[in-house]
Amino acid sequence: MLKAAIVGATGLVGQQFVLALQHHPWFRIEALAASRRAAGQTYGEALRDPASGARQWYAGPEPEASLWDLPVEAAEDLDASRFDVVFSGVDAEAARVLEPQYAKHCAVISTASAFRYDDDVPILVPGVNPEHVQLLDVQRRQRGWRGFIAPNPNCTTVGLVITLAPLQRHFGLEAVVMTSMQAVSGAGRRGGVLALDLLDNLIPYIPNEEEKVRRETCKILGRCSAAGLEPAPLRISATCTRVPVLDGHTESVLALTQQPAPLAAVREAFARFGEDFVRLGLPSSPRQFIVVHDDPFRPQPRLDRDCDDGMATVVGRLRADTAFERGVQYVVLSHNTKMGAAKGAVLAAEFLVHRGYIG
Ligand SMILES: NC(=O)c1ccc[n+]([C@@H]2O[C@H](COP(=O)([O-])OP(=O)(O)OC[C@H]3O[C@@H](n4cnc5c(N)ncnc54)[C@H](OP(=O)(O)O)[C@@H]3O)[C@@H](O)[C@H]2O)c1
Repeated sequence: MLKAAIVGATGLVGQQFVLALQHHPWFRIEALAASRRAAGQTYGEALRDPASGARQWYAGPEPEASLWDLPVEAAEDLDASRFDVVFSGVDAEAARVLEPQYAKHCAVISTASAFRYDDDVPILVPGVNPEHVQLLDVQRRQRGWRGFIAPNPNCTTVGLVITLAPLQRHFGLEAVVMTSMQAVSGAGRRGGVLALDLLDNLIPYIPNEEEKVRRETCKILGRCSAAGLEPAPLRISATCTRVPVLDGHTESVLALTQQPAPLAAVREAFARFGEDFVRLGLPSSPRQFIVVHDDPFRPQPRLDRDCDDGMATVVGRLRADTAFERGVQYVVLSHNTKMGAAKGAVLAAEFLVHRGYIG
């Protein structure tokens, strides 16, 4: 078994890491870590709200009881030489300090944005850009680390790139217009969105989100060679909003293709996307990457976010655009804390084990 630590274990993403790893066939949870606020307590104690005493568990089913008794260590004191891999779910500011400290010793799979835009850091999306793993060799060489930092994309980018990748491959892509309707959990537990702000409401702005979607999509869909990574020359217009949904980011997408894209061919490209990756049989892999609905009332967060335990990307409302020639429109839903964060990061780690980068 490979030894794993979860840093930021008390947060929304950290809780999902616990669920994704507690019965994992390859990784064993060796340590949980968080800020000094939580350090020194058991996991169960650290999750209690200091004012009310209520347990703040947001990830769905509770983990097995023995995990409540694990000690929470201070992330900055964690000795990473004890682990094969650190799963990091901390804020970008903390990640900027902590992750290089760990990467000197072992692999770091991160959901934070701190290193996503560095030239020697790939933004790995399982099934989409496997050839980008070669940047990890460059990173190790340049930084002199035994390990590396491999971040996931922002949760809003995940469903978008998984659906754009087959369009790019089969028809070429020119431009994308996307409007997101993002879940409350995407804002995290601390510094999150107040129920009072969001009930009976919609917030039309999420700081820095649209820029992240633009940069990350072009990087993930870019070409990677020995010379480095060249971002895809794609025009992207994004509007990111927050809606009163607990989990699951929904996005309305208009993609302008270079070649004509008949709907039947688009549907087939979606349905078959990721087949080779699925055949690897990795433990956290979805059985089908993109599930397409014909029912025009789908996808809906409540009905579809847990499709394949939150690992499937669910598409509906597939139609030809009425304003632009070669415009394909659809709605996509992706579970932001599962495929969009923790379980997607675990899947990326499984892929890196398969490729010999971990273990
Ligand atoms: N929520 C999502 O849907 C989502 C999706 C994709 C990516 N992400 C990214 O994943 C990361 C975690 O997000 P989240 O939603 O889980 O946030 P969160 O609920 O606010 O949790 C933050 C975690 O980081 C820990 N932490 C904060 N400052 C720290 C420090 N200085 N040292 C060590 N630990 C520290 C917190 O520990 P304490 O309990 O001790 O404060 C907590 O465990 C962020 O970078 C976020 O952008 C989130």
